[in-house]
Amino acid sequence: MTIYHLSTECYPVAKVGGLADVVGALPKYQNKIEGIYAKVVMPWYNKPFVHEHDFDVVFDGFIHQGQNMLQVQVLKEKSKELGFELFLVRIPGLLDRDNPYGYQDESYQFLGFQHGILHWLSAMQIRPDVLHCHDYHTGLVPFMVENCAEFSFLKGVKTIGTIHNGEYQGMMSWEMVRYMPDFDGYKWGLLDWSGLINPLASMIKCCHAFTAVSGGYLDELFTSFHGLENLVRQEFSKSFGIINGIDTEVWNPETDPMLDFNFNKKNAVKTKKKNKESLCKEYNLNPDLPLFAFIGRFATEKGADLLPDVVWRSITESSGSLNIIILGSGNPQLENRLRELDNVYINFALDLGYKEHLSHKIYASADFLLMPSRVEPCGLNQMYAMRYGTIPVVRYIGGLRDTVQDISTGGAGLNFTNAGTDDVIHSMERATAIYGNKTLMKNLVLANMNFDFAWEKSAQIYIDLYKN
Ligand code: ADP
Ligand code: GLC
Repeated sequence: MTIYHLSTECYPVAKVGGLADVVGALPKYQNKIEGIYAKVVMPWYNKPFVHEHDFDVVFDGFIHQGQNMLQVQVLKEKSKELGFELFLVRIPGLLDRDNPYGYQDESYQFLGFQHGILHWLSAMQIRPDVLHCHDYHTGLVPFMVENCAEFSFLKGVKTIGTIHNGEYQGMMSWEMVRYMPDFDGYKWGLLDWSGLINPLASMIKCCHAFTAVSGGYLDELFTSFHGLENLVRQEFSKSFGIINGIDTEVWNPETDPMLDFNFNKKNAVKTKKKNKESLCKEYNLNPDLPLFAFIGRFATEKGADLLPDVVWRSITESSGSLNIIILGSGNPQLENRLRELDNVYINFALDLGYKEHLSHKIYASADFLLMPSRVEPCGLNQMYAMRYGTIPVVRYIGGLRDTVQDISTGGAGLNFTNAGTDDVIHSMERATAIYGNKTLMKNLVLANMNFDFAWEKSAQIYIDLYKN
């Protein structure tokens, strides 16, 4: 069975968030299953990975987008060291940019990506068993495969859509229709939602099955999905919640080259302390105090707007008996506010930007990881933290409620209900009390490291779904 994963991100080629981690790992684990050939197709980006690896040009052609004729090249990575075949779609001026997102003409960019993929597959007569589309950026593929004459060779190919983040749906005005490949006009309703072309809605309507990245999140979509609630209800019979795994080869505290000191379950407590001392030294924090960390995008869905209040209140209310480190970037006002706090509080360290190495060090060094998310379809941070013996302190929502159970109900983390400062501070107080109890702390470190979030199980669940 041949599966093509279609995505705008894939670790380690280009990563903005968890989508990259999933697409960089799921195919690798699927390929370990007998008879499965999983591949990844993504846009070409001006990124170090692309320049440091060798590629063959496997396709060179043209597509028409409205009046424009665009060159499309497909490059295949030669080494296969990723554990799957990697194909990059390159369209000069459109798919040769520095980053996946943040451009004014994104709708046009993603249309070009989807059109380019299907044109290449049709022209080369490559007919996969499954096209697995990730998020709205590839959400129009199920529609195009069935309804565009140009891709008639692919008609009938099974399509799966995975919702990693329903906050973004890729809506565009109907004026953009002129950039779509030609389709049977009377099928327009399959693209439309509330008077706009909505790629995520179209994906849900047209794919053979769609998945959300946790059961908890799928449940929430039925009642909270920015206007698509009725659509998921109508299509519920083809919906599945499949929890993400983590790549335990990349995220292994015993071998992770990004850590100062590697560790395993036997020496975790002692060695985590050494990592913490080294991190605290670098950021001028006191290693004897509990260390809370936040890593992530400064977006409302992550509850990042709560962080300034959490920082000043937790430090002042505890009379400076805890440390906080924040790694992330996003909303500029929030970045400024946190910068100001960084100048005032010695117990607070801030590192703005995207830093893969530092994130690994923080997961290994912190005592607690904070996730006050408003929306969390799955969340990988808590799983990385747990694998590195760090106790997750999370809002009880989406994938967080599927992966983190409170110690009061037999789990090894802390849950809170509201995305508000009071709840976060209260949980931090609970955490600080735990920190004071060395035996409990040690037990929780080990209990978290014992959780198994490896991809094997979910990779198989996806295969079973494809087969069905
Ligand atoms: P999302 O995809 O919504 O951002 P996830 O929890 O699924 O959330 O995944 C986030 C991923 O991005 C994790 O691998 C996390 O470690 C990483 N990450 C987020 N922000 C940063 C940052 N500033 N520096 C390094 N890694 C980051
Ligand atoms: C999205 C979600 C996150 C999830 C990730 C990978 O970015 O916000 O919760 O873990 O996708 O599926």
